[in-house]
Amino acid sequence: MDAVVFSNVTFRYQDASRNAITNLSLVIGAGEFVGVTGSGGTGKSTLLYAMAGAVPHFLKGDFYGSVTVFGVDTVDTSPVELARAVGLVMQDTDSQFVAVEVEDELRFGLDNFGIPKTEYEDRLSEACRVCGIEALRNRIIRELSGGQKRKVAIASILAMRPNLLILDEPAGELDPPSKRQVFRTLAELKDKGITVVVAEKNAALLHEFCGRVITLEGEGYVQE
Ligand SMILES: Nc1ncnc2c1ncn2[C@@H]1O[C@H](COP(=O)(O)OP(=O)(O)O)[C@@H](O)[C@H]1O
Ligand SMILES: [Mg+2]
Repeated sequence: MDAVVFSNVTFRYQDASRNAITNLSLVIGAGEFVGVTGSGGTGKSTLLYAMAGAVPHFLKGDFYGSVTVFGVDTVDTSPVELARAVGLVMQDTDSQFVAVEVEDELRFGLDNFGIPKTEYEDRLSEACRVCGIEALRNRIIRELSGGQKRKVAIASILAMRPNLLILDEPAGELDPPSKRQVFRTLAELKDKGITVVVAEKNAALLHEFCGRVITLEGEGYVQE
């Protein structure tokens, strides 16, 4: 089964004067590692939000066409229900942290989804190992470097064991070596069979790590 199918999707944010996405069709197969690039305002974030159901459930507007994720229609399904299979790491991860310490941040999602406590250690140690943050579990989040914080944000989503991981410019303002480290982590996830979709302005970085790069050219015009 395909991981993501967009069929003739058009979306215009409430009160916006033009579409963020126009008549976009796209298929992402299970297990692909896809990069999405394009300059600012071309719809990268909107595309990712639509995969996670945040568009149109939380970010409202006129939505036409359909998006399915593992065969499930995102409009008919609540984003909370989708979150069991779909993990979204938003762009501004610093403002997304809810806890003071790393360990509590990692547990937060598991608590919210009623994951059995007996599974916690397995899930947390795996997520921390993949992201290389085992040594940071008892640290205070605000004392970490930018790169370390990004890895904590990714690990907290990974602990949910999503089948589809969506990341919006996860390496945003990091220096080049830290950026590449984040992408190496993503490549490892792809090797584990997780479908990964990542938005990033630096197309060269995507071409180096991703199996496929999609370039948005505004209002949903796509070049592969
Ligand atoms: N919350 C919003 N309300 C209204 N318009 C928005 C909102 N978010 C984004 N847009 C508009 O939608 C278009 C696509 O934006 P976005 O998906 O954020 O692109 P990118 O991530 O490539 O910078 C832009 O024209 C932007 O101004
Ligand atoms: Mg964006």
